[in-house]
Amino acid sequence: TDVWKPELPINEQDPLIEQAARLLTEQQVVAFPTETVYGLGADATNETAVKRIFQAKGRPSDNPLIVHVATREQVRELVTTIPPVAEKLMDAFWPGPLTLVMESSGRAAEPVTAGLSTIGIRMPDHPLALALIKAADRPLAAPSANRSGRPSPTSAAHVAQDLTGRIAAILDGGATGVGVESTVLDCTTEIPVILRPGGIAKEDLEQVIPRVMVDPALAGAEDKPKSPGMKYTHYAPEAPLWLVEGSDTFFQATLRELTDARQRVGVIASEELAAKLEYEPMISCGSRTHLTEVASRLYSTLREFKKADVDIILCESFPEAGVGAAIMNRLTKAASQKVSEQ
Ligand code: TXA
Ligand code: MG
Repeated sequence: TDVWKPELPINEQDPLIEQAARLLTEQQVVAFPTETVYGLGADATNETAVKRIFQAKGRPSDNPLIVHVATREQVRELVTTIPPVAEKLMDAFWPGPLTLVMESSGRAAEPVTAGLSTIGIRMPDHPLALALIKAADRPLAAPSANRSGRPSPTSAAHVAQDLTGRIAAILDGGATGVGVESTVLDCTTEIPVILRPGGIAKEDLEQVIPRVMVDPALAGAEDKPKSPGMKYTHYAPEAPLWLVEGSDTFFQATLRELTDARQRVGVIASEELAAKLEYEPMISCGSRTHLTEVASRLYSTLREFKKADVDIILCESFPEAGVGAAIMNRLTKAASQKVSEQ
């Protein structure tokens, strides 16, 4: 697997981008950065190419892929119609971390939609991603560029850890910014429904459209999630992760109990809690009052603790406002158990 690092600022004529685009037209898969996480891209209109994504990731074939576009024209070809609500949201948030689910025209290769009549589309806010889509001159299907079940990659090194030898090339654009994946919003119903919380908060959407619902399955209800991906184990670090809900004192007591029982514990904490604990090994992923920073560091933190070094990862819970909803969604899915104060 080649790792190519185009010069900055991104120049659309960069030969490395041209080479990567050529691989894509030859039905190969190429990892590239977006503003959220790295994606594993393939020609969305070519079945052979798209199947290679599922193979490289070890991804279940019933989990549909997001299609990445650089123009509205590409959107129009992929869907039957663009609902007015979706049009408004594109105006407000594209390019950006918002995936819109619409009725598929059938233009995308079959495995992209995994048997659904709908298709998820977004325009990424990253110059390298946009340049690659333009150079390839076709929409790119791209899930996160991790092995299925692992934390999503926020650097080219993370992609290499998971996929070296399994994909043609990695375009290295440095660390990604947002750090959690896009918000997936179903626009096929009268009131749009958040299927996966992500980089654009529900509060942000409500500034633009009057009503937004949240898929009840996200709150842990029995309903089958409408986003097929939400039912699989995800984001799992190497060691079991315990998510602690409660006061700092409760966290401290839980930690002491485990270390007294000779468990090797790695701690993931906010700056605020970290200052109180003075514990090793511990990684702080930012301040409780700067959740965008916590989001951007979340996945690299989850990859940091190795199985050889710790038996358990003990992680703090974060407020669910704004991007906090996405952070807690990912931590809950990464956790093997929750430890609650009451
Ligand atoms: O930020 C992101 O969205 C990243 C970057 C690479 O763009 N991509 C990403 O893709 O997170 P992936 O495959 O890891 O997650 C896609 C999610 C899955 O939960 C999938 O089930 C859902 O989107 N999805 C895709 N198409 C859908 C559809 N037609 N209906 C419902 N859910 C869909
Ligand atoms: Mg993923």
